Amino acid sequence: MLSSLILGAASTVLVAQGTANRTVIPKTCFDSVADFENSFGYLYPWGSDHNGAARMDKDHIKISGGVLNLTASPVAGQMPASSGGKSIDIHYLSGTVYAKAHFNVSRTGGYDFMGDFRATTTRGTWPAFWLTAVKGWPPEIDMAEWKGSGDISFNTFNTSSEVAAKDVNYPKPEDFHSIKAELRGLNGKDVQVKFYLDGELVTTQVGKDFFGVPMYLIIDLQMEGSSGSPGPSGDTNYEVKNLEVLISNT
Ligand SMILES: *[C@@H]1O[C@H](CO)[C@@H](O)[C@H](O)[C@H]1NC(C)=O
Ligand SMILES: *[C@@H]1O[C@H](CO)[C@@H](O)[C@H](O)[C@H]1NC(C)=O
Ligand SMILES: *[C@@H]1O[C@H](CO)[C@@H](O)[C@H](O)[C@H]1NC(C)=O
Ligand SMILES: *[C@@H]1O[C@H](CO)[C@@H](O)[C@H](O)[C@H]1NC(C)=O
Repeated sequence: MLSSLILGAASTVLVAQGTANRTVIPKTCFDSVADFENSFGYLYPWGSDHNGAARMDKDHIKISGGVLNLTASPVAGQMPASSGGKSIDIHYLSGTVYAKAHFNVSRTGGYDFMGDFRATTTRGTWPAFWLTAVKGWPPEIDMAEWKGSGDISFNTFNTSSEVAAKDVNYPKPEDFHSIKAELRGLNGKDVQVKFYLDGELVTTQVGKDFFGVPMYLIIDLQMEGSSGSPGPSGDTNYEVKNLEVLISNT
């Protein structure tokens, strides 16, 4: 009698955990600058430069009416960037933001990352929506990356040479498209990622030893680099709305 009571209570708790679902970043995060600053910081977590020809600058980040709007504009006379021991000429000022929260898939649950994106596939434009290790590297999960080819790319890096990479045709870049990545712990070691475009599952990848490793969420409009060059001579916009991150107990 006593044991069945305890069992009953335990299974109730399990059911409650299985359906629980908590918001880490709310859909309202781009409604105002104050909402944005609750969840996000400006530029990369490490500063203004990374691995392309854009230097990030706060004035190229606009938040209004539920939309994050990053703009890359051509610029001259900047000091080169330095990345991975290489000097990279800066040809643009652009925008990048990162989530203040860190994300680690742990025993307490997986994550859903989702939003609607208007991204260009023009040569030399390199918008992305991605996760990268807070300390060291990998993990890296590219939940969406557009490398100026007409495709969208979904990638998971076990190492720099062991990479799951899926490129698919990206229709109508002038429209918003929905992106979703579901991250789930697999075996207490690895993390499975299901990548969706416009509600359709495109590919499933597995990140080796990603379990419990904290990652940054970054939304950036890099330029040139992996997207080819020269990039556009005018402004480029990258717009994101309905961004939301959920954590689950499943
Ligand atoms: C983003 O900014 C550009 C340039 O200011 C503007 O033309 C465009 O309409 C904006 N996009 C949205 C969705 O507000
Ligand atoms: C990962 O997340 C869990 C639960 O949110 C937390 O207890 C743990 O400390 C985190 N691990 C690291 C390495 O940050
Ligand atoms: C990465 O490692 C995971 C776990 O071992 C494995 O399932 C996956 O196939 C690996 N990815 C690649 C591209 O080899
Ligand atoms: C949140 O709940 C919905 C509806 O039950 C479910 O489809 C989704 O997978 C859950 N999200 C996470 C991160 O588990």
